[in-house]
Amino acid sequence: MARALPWLTFAATLLLLASIKSSTASRMAKPGCQETCGNLTIPYPFGIGEGCFYGQGFDVSCENYRVFMHNSSSRMEIYNISLVGAQARVSTLIASKCSYKNGTDTDWGVSSNTADLFTISSKANKLTVVGCNTLAFLGGFNEHRAGAGCFSMCPDKQGVDGSGQCSGMGCCQTSIAPNLNSLNIGFDDRYNNSEVRDFNPCSYAFVAEQDWFRFEASYLDDDKFREKFKDEVPAVLDWVVGHESCDEAVKNMTSYTCISKNSHCIMSPNATGYLCTCNNGFTGNPYLEEGCQDIDECGFRYQYPCHGICSNTIGDYSCSCKSGTSSIDPKIETCKPITVSEEARLTKMFIGISACVVILLICVFALLNECQKRKLVKEKKIFFQQHGGLLLYEQIRSKQVDTVRIFTKEELENATNNFDSSRELGRGGHGTVYKGILKDGRVVAIKRSKVMNMDQKDEFAQEMVILSQINHRNVVKLLGCCLEVEVPMLVYECIPNGTLFELMHGKNRRLSISLDTRLRIAQESAEALAYLHSSASPPIVHGDVKSPNILLGDNHTAKVTDFGASRMLPTDEIQFMTMVQGTIGYLDPEYLQERQLTEKSDVYSFGVVLLELITMKFAIYSDSAGEKRNLASSFLLAMKENGLQFILDKNILEFETELLQEIAQLAKCCLSMRGEERPLMREVAERLRSIRSTWRVQLIQNPSRETECLLENSSHYDPSSTGQHGSLMTLDLESGR
Ligand SMILES: *[C@@H]1O[C@H](CO)[C@@H](O)[C@H](O)[C@H]1NC(C)=O
Ligand SMILES: *[C@@H]1O[C@H](CO)[C@@H](O)[C@H](O)[C@H]1NC(C)=O
Ligand SMILES: *[C@@H]1O[C@H](CO)[C@@H](O)[C@H](O)[C@H]1NC(C)=O
Ligand SMILES: *[C@@H]1O[C@H](CO)[C@@H](O)[C@H](O)[C@H]1NC(C)=O
Ligand SMILES: *[C@@H]1O[C@H](CO)[C@@H](O)[C@H](O)[C@H]1NC(C)=O
Ligand SMILES: *[C@@H]1O[C@H](CO)[C@@H](O)[C@H](O)[C@H]1NC(C)=O
Ligand SMILES: *[C@@H]1O[C@H](CO)[C@@H](O)[C@H](O)[C@H]1NC(C)=O
Repeated sequence: MARALPWLTFAATLLLLASIKSSTASRMAKPGCQETCGNLTIPYPFGIGEGCFYGQGFDVSCENYRVFMHNSSSRMEIYNISLVGAQARVSTLIASKCSYKNGTDTDWGVSSNTADLFTISSKANKLTVVGCNTLAFLGGFNEHRAGAGCFSMCPDKQGVDGSGQCSGMGCCQTSIAPNLNSLNIGFDDRYNNSEVRDFNPCSYAFVAEQDWFRFEASYLDDDKFREKFKDEVPAVLDWVVGHESCDEAVKNMTSYTCISKNSHCIMSPNATGYLCTCNNGFTGNPYLEEGCQDIDECGFRYQYPCHGICSNTIGDYSCSCKSGTSSIDPKIETCKPITVSEEARLTKMFIGISACVVILLICVFALLNECQKRKLVKEKKIFFQQHGGLLLYEQIRSKQVDTVRIFTKEELENATNNFDSSRELGRGGHGTVYKGILKDGRVVAIKRSKVMNMDQKDEFAQEMVILSQINHRNVVKLLGCCLEVEVPMLVYECIPNGTLFELMHGKNRRLSISLDTRLRIAQESAEALAYLHSSASPPIVHGDVKSPNILLGDNHTAKVTDFGASRMLPTDEIQFMTMVQGTIGYLDPEYLQERQLTEKSDVYSFGVVLLELITMKFAIYSDSAGEKRNLASSFLLAMKENGLQFILDKNILEFETELLQEIAQLAKCCLSMRGEERPLMREVAERLRSIRSTWRVQLIQNPSRETECLLENSSHYDPSSTGQHGSLMTLDLESGR
C-alpha cells in the first residue's frame, strides 16, 4: 500500500493537470460564471450575473434556456454570439401597418436603442419591407442623423414577384447606415393597404439579417406572415470592447482588454473600436487570462492539412513525410513513395555517375601527382648515376679530390634566384652562364649546358674528375657540379673582369692595351692550354678556344674557361668522330673536314686568338667594303703579299718590325692548314715567353706613339725576312714536336 501511494498521487496529479488543461482550453466564461444557457455558450465579455460580464450591454440573462439582453429598452433574445466575428444575433421587432376588411386600420412603428458598445451591423443587415403600395422609412443615429427608405408597389396579385426575389414587387430591401445606435422604423402616411387589402392587408418593415430572409409571395397574407415570424426577426449586432484605437488602448493597461497571453488587439472592421484576437496558431477567448490556447492543429486535419506525419508545436505545427515518401510540401501535397519515375531514376543515375567520375578523376590526379613526384626523385637518382655521380663520388674519395663539391639542384636554384635572367652572365654555344651566390656568400659562375647525348654524358664525370684535378692559375677553377638534373651543371670560380673578347672588342676598347699585356695574355692562355694538353693523361682538348672563352682576372690574368666542347683524347690515339663543335672563325679547317678533334685544333684556334690580339679585328670581320672576311684567311693572304702592316693593329705598328714579324710568324704557324705542321701548345707558350724576354726592353719601354709615326715605321717592313722567319719557325716548332 505504502509503495503504491506515490504512484496514486502521481496519477492523480496527472489527471488533475489534464482536467485543468482541458477546462482552461475550453473555458469561454470567466471563472466561476455560468458558461452556457440552453445550447448557447456565453463567452466573456458576455456574462450572466454581477462580475461575469465586461461592461454595459454584455450582461445577459438566462431564462428557460433562452438568453436575453438583460437591460435593453426592448426585450431582445440572443440567438447566437460570435466571439471571433464580434457579432451577436438578436431578435428585433417588426413594424406593421394594416388596413383590414372589417375597417380596422393599425400602424405599429418600432424604435430601439443599443448599448454603448453595440451597433446595428450595416454589413449583415438590411431594411426589409414586405407589402404592396407601401413606403417605409428607417431613421437612425450614429454620430449623425441617418436614414433610409424602401418603396414596394404591386397593384394586384399578379404584380407580385413570385420568384422569391425581393425586387420591389411585394418586397423591397435597402442598406442601412453603419454604426447605428438607435433606430425608428415607420410608414409613410400617403400610402396604405386599403386598395390591395383583399390580398395584402398589412405591410411589414424590419431590420433583419439579410442572408436569413427569403421573400415568398405568401408572406403578403397577414396570417401566413404572422404564423411564420410571430413578431420577431433576427438581426445582427456588432460589438467592440472599446471605442479607442489599438494604439490608444494598449497605452491604458487598466482598461486594456486583450489580457490573454498570445493575444493582440485589432480594429473592428465593422464598427468603430477595437477587439481582441488570439495570435495565429492559438484559439480560445482572448478576453480571458490564459484564454488563448495552442491549437493542436494535428487534430484538425481539414483546417490544418497535413498529408504526412503531423506534429504539433506551440503556435504552429510541422508536417513531414514518412521515410521512403516525399512531397514538395506535405501540408499541400500528398506524400508519394519515392519512385522510380524513370526520369528521376535517370537523373539520380546521372548524378551518381558524375560523382563517381569526379572522384575517380581526383584519385587519378592524386596518383599521377604522386607518380610524378616519385619519377622526379627517380630521375634525379638516374641523372646522378648517368652523370657518373657514383664514379665521381668514388674518385673524390679515392683520389681525395676535395676541391670539387657536388651541389644539389636546390642549392643552385637558390644561388641563381631560380636561374633568373638578370643573373645571366653570358650565353654561349654550349650553354648559359649564371652568376650565383652560394649560401656562404661566395660568388660563383654556374654553367648550365645545353642538352647532351648519352655518349657525352658517359664521359662527363670522367672529364669532371680530371678538370677537378686541374689546378692551374690560368684555368678557371671548377668548384663543383650538380648531377641531379638532366644536363649537369658546373660551378666555377667567378672571374670578375670579363672576357678577352670584351677587352678587345667591347665598349672600352678605346683604352689601347699594351703589346706586352697582349703577349702576356696570349702566353698565359697558351700555358693553360699546354697544361691541359700535356698534364693530364689522356690529354684534354679544349675544343672551343676563342677570345670569349678567355676570362680576365685581376691584372688581366688570363683564365681559360668553357670546357663545354672539351674532349679527352683516348689514350690509344684513335681519334673519334663527333659532331663539329666550336665557333666559326676559330674552327680548325682540318677538324671541319676530317671531323677529328686533336690538340692541334686548339692550336689553330689559339692562332686566331693571337691574330685577334695583334690585329684587334674580329675573327670574322667586315672589311672597308663591308664584306665579311675570315681573319685567318685575310692574315695569311696579307703575309703572302707582304701587306702585314695593313692588317695589324695600328697601335702596335710602332714596334720593331722584327718583333711583329716574329709574332706574325708564330700565328701563321698555328694557322697551318695541316695539323701536323702546327706547333704544340707547349711550344707556342715557350715561343711566346721567349719573344717576351727577347724584346723585353722594347716592350716595356716603348711607349705608345701616334698613328702618323706608325705609318712611317711600317715602310721599313721587310717582307723577305718574314718568310724566312716563318719557315725557320715552322721548322723549329716541327722539330720540337
Ligand atoms: C438544443 O439543441 C438540441 C439539438 O440541436 C435541440 O434538440 C434542443 O431543442 C436545443 N435546446 C434549446 C433549449 O434550444
Ligand atoms: C440598465 O440598468 C441600469 C440599472 O440596473 C439602469 O441604470 C440603466 O438605465 C438600464 N439601461 C437601459 C438601457 O435600460
Ligand atoms: C449560431 O452560429 C453558429 C456558427 O456561427 C451556427 O452554426 C448556428 O447555426 C447559429 N445558431 C443560430 C441559432 O443561428
Ligand atoms: C464583420 O462583418 C462581417 C459581415 O457580416 C462578418 O463576416 C464578420 O464576422 C464581422 N466581424 C469581423 C470581426 O469581421
Ligand atoms: C378586424 O379584423 C382583425 C383581423 O382579422 C381583428 O384582429 C380585429 O379585431 C377586427 N376588428 C374589429 C372591430 O372587428
Ligand atoms: C388610404 O388611402 C386612401 C387613398 O390613397 C385614402 O383615401 C384613405 O383615407 C387612406 N386611409 C387612411 C386610413 O389613411
Ligand atoms: C484608463 O482606463 C480607466 C478605466 O476605463 C479610466 O478610468 C482611466 O481614465 C483611463 N486612463 C487613461 C489615461 O485614459
